[in-house]
Amino acid sequence: MPGCDVLIRGALVADGGGTEPFAANVAVGGDRIVAVGSKLDCDATEVIDATGLVLAPGFIDVHTHDDTYVIRAPEMLPKLSQGVTTVIVGNCGISAAPVRLKTDPSDPMNLLGDAEVFRYPTFSAYVEAVQTARPAVNVAALVGHTALRNNHMDRLDRAATSSEIEAMRCDLREALQCGALGLSTGLAYLSANAATTEEILALAEPLAEAGALYTTHLRSEGAAILDAMDEAFRIGRECAVPVIISHLKCAGVHNWGRSGEVLEALDLARATQAVSCDCYPYAAGSSTLDLRQVDERVEITITWSQPYPETGGKALAEVAREWRVDQVEAARRLQPAGAIYHSISGDDMRRILRHPATMIGSDGLPNDPRPHPRLWGTFPRVLGRYVRDESLLPLSEAVHKMTGLPAARFGLGERGLIREGCFADLVLFDPKSVRDIATYDDPVQPSEGIVRVWINGVLSYGNGVPSECRAGRFVKRSATVTNQEPVALR
Ligand code: ZN
Ligand code: CU
Repeated sequence: MPGCDVLIRGALVADGGGTEPFAANVAVGGDRIVAVGSKLDCDATEVIDATGLVLAPGFIDVHTHDDTYVIRAPEMLPKLSQGVTTVIVGNCGISAAPVRLKTDPSDPMNLLGDAEVFRYPTFSAYVEAVQTARPAVNVAALVGHTALRNNHMDRLDRAATSSEIEAMRCDLREALQCGALGLSTGLAYLSANAATTEEILALAEPLAEAGALYTTHLRSEGAAILDAMDEAFRIGRECAVPVIISHLKCAGVHNWGRSGEVLEALDLARATQAVSCDCYPYAAGSSTLDLRQVDERVEITITWSQPYPETGGKALAEVAREWRVDQVEAARRLQPAGAIYHSISGDDMRRILRHPATMIGSDGLPNDPRPHPRLWGTFPRVLGRYVRDESLLPLSEAVHKMTGLPAARFGLGERGLIREGCFADLVLFDPKSVRDIATYDDPVQPSEGIVRVWINGVLSYGNGVPSECRAGRFVKRSATVTNQEPVALR
């Protein structure tokens, strides 16, 4: 057999395609998987006995805000330690590139860092910076709509004019030529909420020309969620662009129990156009502190506050009590600030998580001093808590949602599957012990049960320790985004 460096023997292979796991040996040569087979043998430099362990394609974190983190902390431990081998950055309308800031970054651009981290006036400058940093994991990127608005508008609380839209399209085209996956919006945020559907439609045109896609943090995840979904589907239909709804959820107490009708609307659209979504496996969200989401019935924890850093980790209710003001007033004084909102029902989250169109995305916030535990725990939590402990979904299906499905939907060619010829992004884990350790009280903790991680054929993580050489690459959009339905899924 040609050039076999590593032979992984006897693992149960969940190959990312969604079918039943099978026992096989897998051979890696250079940066590729060179063979897969039950009787396979080769003269490998290294032979690994993987009996009792599961071998899967490296996980693809489809929803991240790691844009500047992959450069600042290229070890990428929060993700590598979960078995993640590729992160998709640029979600929710915010991206590090192409950005030319004139002032401090607006909310929620500030989730990516202070003004000095925005150093990439063009998308190609960002690609170069990632390549120079050589992060441990692969990086693929979306362009944020709010980032484009920042470049060309004097204020963000209005719709863009046609000349501003033209300037944004110009930025977007440059990015798409350099391999951007598509455009993301964050229409719920005040920095993009005044954008009309027409503004997005105009930006979606270059996406169709490039074979790229549209992802959206919906205009509403509350009472008006169905209208917001319709808006996203309309953009996809009219511009012939695949749509991915980010962190699909029913947010706010008044909205609990609506996941059934939300998924029905998703399925209805799925019958005629390319639509899917991502989800994190927690009943709490996290972002900047939004006055509109303050609700006495929802537990809100402050994660950071620029004027009052000492409130980090405290409940908003507690801060309000100490200050003898109501929670909205307390939230106003804390600005700019970040928060965790316990505003999702666990039943809704589970129903969305197991839906066949749902991919896994952490939505982790690596710049947060007290991050939501999803940053360190998302993928092992799905495998441990929801697959093994609760039997919410089969292992093969969960792995598919983390690998083959996102690779197909986002156009990451030759990744996300254990097949001969694919890139050797692999994770070996123990199905009996894999679990997330990060909690709301103690969120910065690696998970358990991730035995080894290879990225582009290079052993990058083993038994809790990252390797010295980092082998991640910038991954450009492949020619085709497929909308194939997963194999053997309900
Ligand atoms: Zn978002
Ligand atoms: Cu997000």
